[in-house]
Amino acid sequence: MKIAVLPGDGIGTEIVAEAVKVLQVLDLQFEMEQALVGGAAYEAHGHPLPDSTLKLAKEADAVLFGAVGDWKYDKLDRPLRPEQAILGLRKNLGLFANFRPAICYEQLVGASSLKPELIAGLDILIIRELTGDIYFGQPRGRRTAVDGHFPGAEEAFDTMRYSRPEIERIAHVAFQAARKRGKKLTSVDKANVLETFQFWKDVVTEVHKDYPDVALEHMYVDNAAMQLVKAPKKFDVVVTGNMFGDILSDEAAMLTGSIGMLPSASLNSASQGLYEPSHGSAPDIAGKGVANPLATILSAAMMLRFSLNQPEAADRIETAVKQVLASGLRTADIWSEGATRVGTREMGDAVVKALG
Ligand code: IPM
Ligand code: MG
Repeated sequence: MKIAVLPGDGIGTEIVAEAVKVLQVLDLQFEMEQALVGGAAYEAHGHPLPDSTLKLAKEADAVLFGAVGDWKYDKLDRPLRPEQAILGLRKNLGLFANFRPAICYEQLVGASSLKPELIAGLDILIIRELTGDIYFGQPRGRRTAVDGHFPGAEEAFDTMRYSRPEIERIAHVAFQAARKRGKKLTSVDKANVLETFQFWKDVVTEVHKDYPDVALEHMYVDNAAMQLVKAPKKFDVVVTGNMFGDILSDEAAMLTGSIGMLPSASLNSASQGLYEPSHGSAPDIAGKGVANPLATILSAAMMLRFSLNQPEAADRIETAVKQVLASGLRTADIWSEGATRVGTREMGDAVVKALG
């Protein structure tokens, strides 16, 4: 088994180092190989996703990813910006199924901006389609408008599109995930306005016939955004397209108190996966040793479970994280009165210690 370790930019290097430390003490049989990605790769090789990094990722059984991006690259041509590395990995590895769990840890109920009773015990799973939609649809670009409100004006455009097989495969993934949990699936669309999402709704409804034991509901995305803050515990598994999933998963993450706690997995049809924290590179706190490494450590646990067939090791990491939280240690993002404030490395060390 081989893991490609791609720390990336900003806090990426600090948090991935902690996850690697945790993986190393588990004493499992796998090889880890590190490579540059994002802005770091651009600096060294002139491209955010160099061929050598892509090759390593393709050959590996799993990719452990930190984060990419920094404001200083915002002026580069789009193909050279750090974000293109993650988009390129998703596309080239066919990572169409993105799992973003939002779990509210008992000890962190007070860290959310929502009332404790709304989020205590929250455990929802957002499944975001990750290789289609307006993110990848062609054509896109800039041109002179020939129609619309201002013919002759400069305009920009993107294409929202989904094919039947793309919707079918993510729907199957979502129904199967729901079957293993609370047997309730919410499909989020904008069928009242968009052709693409009327089609999405129709196809999801058809796939539902294979899963009569799972309750399916359809919800418009604007309502879903509202329900997530009104009554988040009513959700179990949510499935949606790439764009809506991007937005709703950040919202869901914040319900739990800190995006610094949330892991994610992006899988292809061969269960090869990329595992990354749900948060970004946070350049404002990079290099200060204060970032929360737990989302990355929990992403490593997801990797052991989904791609490396080591469910016991995954359980051990998750239990260790809960123990560390119970002992009162907190990084700045989840700190509250009475808790012990620690830095990135101390948090990683504490998880290693809890693993015994
Ligand atoms: C995410 C991020 C990415 C996305 C960016 C960095 C391209 O926001 O993983 O949610 O939009 O998908
Ligand atoms: Mg996002």
